[in-house]
Amino acid sequence: MSSIDTILAQALAQVDSVTDLNELELVKANYLGKNGSITELLKTLGKCSAEERKSLGAHINQGKDIFVGALNAKKEALNLAKLELQLASEALDVTLPGRGSSHLGLHPVTLTLARFVELFHSVGFTVGDGPEIEQDFYNFQALNIPENHPARAMQDTFYVENGDVLRTHTSPIQVRYMLDHEPPIKLIAPGRVYRVDSDATHSPMFHQMEGLWIEEGVSFADLKATLTDFIRRFFERDDLQVRFRPSFFPFTEPSAEVDILGEKGWLEVGGCGMVHPNVLKNVNIDSERYTGFAFGMGIDRFAMLRYGVNDLRLFFDNDLNFLKQFQ
Ligand code: DAH
Repeated sequence: MSSIDTILAQALAQVDSVTDLNELELVKANYLGKNGSITELLKTLGKCSAEERKSLGAHINQGKDIFVGALNAKKEALNLAKLELQLASEALDVTLPGRGSSHLGLHPVTLTLARFVELFHSVGFTVGDGPEIEQDFYNFQALNIPENHPARAMQDTFYVENGDVLRTHTSPIQVRYMLDHEPPIKLIAPGRVYRVDSDATHSPMFHQMEGLWIEEGVSFADLKATLTDFIRRFFERDDLQVRFRPSFFPFTEPSAEVDILGEKGWLEVGGCGMVHPNVLKNVNIDSERYTGFAFGMGIDRFAMLRYGVNDLRLFFDNDLNFLKQFQ
């Protein structure tokens, strides 16, 4: 009798002092394994009288149950502690500021474009877009630039398969939009355009924003007012000099180039004009009833002027020392 009490006391003390699951397995084996102390004790029952076996057996099994109970409780406690430790070590404080945040910023061309969109939005224009690989019809023909027309030479074109082109301007988006929508139309359409050209002020890929306003009674005065107002708001200078210089585009009549007065003289920032009746006819808009104007502006050019950048290529070199200045 006293033997199981002593063994149990010892066993419980060992369970108590254990600090990990492996140790706990060893303790269990020491008592309940093939040669474990409690197992051995149970083996001695065979030599006892029937009566003794009954009471002694019950007593040993009671002790064994207590030990097994203690083992299970300890196992659970150790597992829980392990889980808590793991959770604590893997905890993530999502409220901490990100370490990389100081390096993030938008590209100056993106910032400029966002400003274009914001300003035109504020006077009721919606944003549209079109594909960069464009069909000859949209890029040229519908814009009153037939095949073999000398105006095609104004734009050195990248040709791709099937006679398609990398769009040389955002003007094809006008055509797509007018085919899909009835007037009144107030559209801006920014995007990448491509031309065979490369130096400090020209890049084979650059950004333009097309604008189009078609409605009854829209006049050249509206064109001048809209663009002058936009340019002055863009540069945040109410007194900025804006000039409309007569020019030629096949898709507008009359046409003009838009200049602003900079420190070193007049600078061209875009082209514009009243949409040519042939273009309206090509998109099934009644040119007797509707008139309108269109314009195209170089987004990169505006970005250069706004940020004082003198080489267009800096925008496309991905030099972090340059880009970091716009954070
Ligand atoms: N598409 C012309 C270009 O890239 C720019 C332009 C001029 C667009 C006059 C227009 C416009 O919509 O009316 O050179």
